[in-house]
Amino acid sequence: MANKRVLILSYSYSHQTRNLLKTMVAGMEEEGVEIVWERIFTVEKLRFPIGTIPSTFIMMLQTFFRKRYPINPLNESAFQDWDMIILAGPTWSYNPSGPVLSLLDDEGKKLFKNQTVLPMISCRGYWRVHYWGLKSLLNKCDVKTVLSPIVFSHPTPEPWRTIGVFLKLAGRTPEAGTSWFRRVYPKYGHSRKQVEKAGYLGKELGHDIQSGMELTGLSFETPIRTETA
Ligand SMILES: Cc1cc2nc3c(=O)[nH]c(=O)nc-3n(C[C@H](O)[C@H](O)[C@H](O)COP(=O)(O)O)c2cc1C
Repeated sequence: MANKRVLILSYSYSHQTRNLLKTMVAGMEEEGVEIVWERIFTVEKLRFPIGTIPSTFIMMLQTFFRKRYPINPLNESAFQDWDMIILAGPTWSYNPSGPVLSLLDDEGKKLFKNQTVLPMISCRGYWRVHYWGLKSLLNKCDVKTVLSPIVFSHPTPEPWRTIGVFLKLAGRTPEAGTSWFRRVYPKYGHSRKQVEKAGYLGKELGHDIQSGMELTGLSFETPIRTETA
């Protein structure tokens, strides 16, 4: 049987999506899936961290209103028929990130028309509104199917992960030093265990795709969201 072909389109601001995808791609390739991985880059490089508290507030407000961040054109090789497209990126203020919104504006119909799309979301913890919004934008591009998403949430409990992400974006290093906060917030982003889990998931997904299984039956979100660090 011919190998299945999957396009991955990803944006990652602080390397969290990228780290998960690295192991996931390796897992899928082990199962024989052919992967083409197209990273989305903004025209103007976005500095991480944002750097100050006021500029972090401003970015959060702008992204709440779905500010677009212009992106560089994709390689022509992305515009083909695929067995599946994985559209991966972070949640920004309850929305898909600005670069992914630009991708949908610029190339949505050309890329996604009649394709099966699996959204993958890296977030602090609040992804549902992002998923609904993304699904509705993809449907406007005449997508064939939008599958249930793969979701990875930061494993640190609330309220620390919200405070931790904000401080990290504002240029502080809440996970460093000897402060009491470090004990409740040991790490920004996903745990090593989650990155490993993305690898197993990639293998599972690769196996299912290669076997020709009905992809609408896939569901991945639950075990990963509830995991602790
Ligand atoms: C401007 C901005 C807004 C964010 N808003 C949310 C949010 O509404 N919900 C959430 O769960 N995470 C939110 N986050 C956190 C990111 O989704 C999270 O850190 C993610 O793991 C980053 O992935 P990346 O490194 O691939 O960009 C926000 C991050 C940024 C930069």
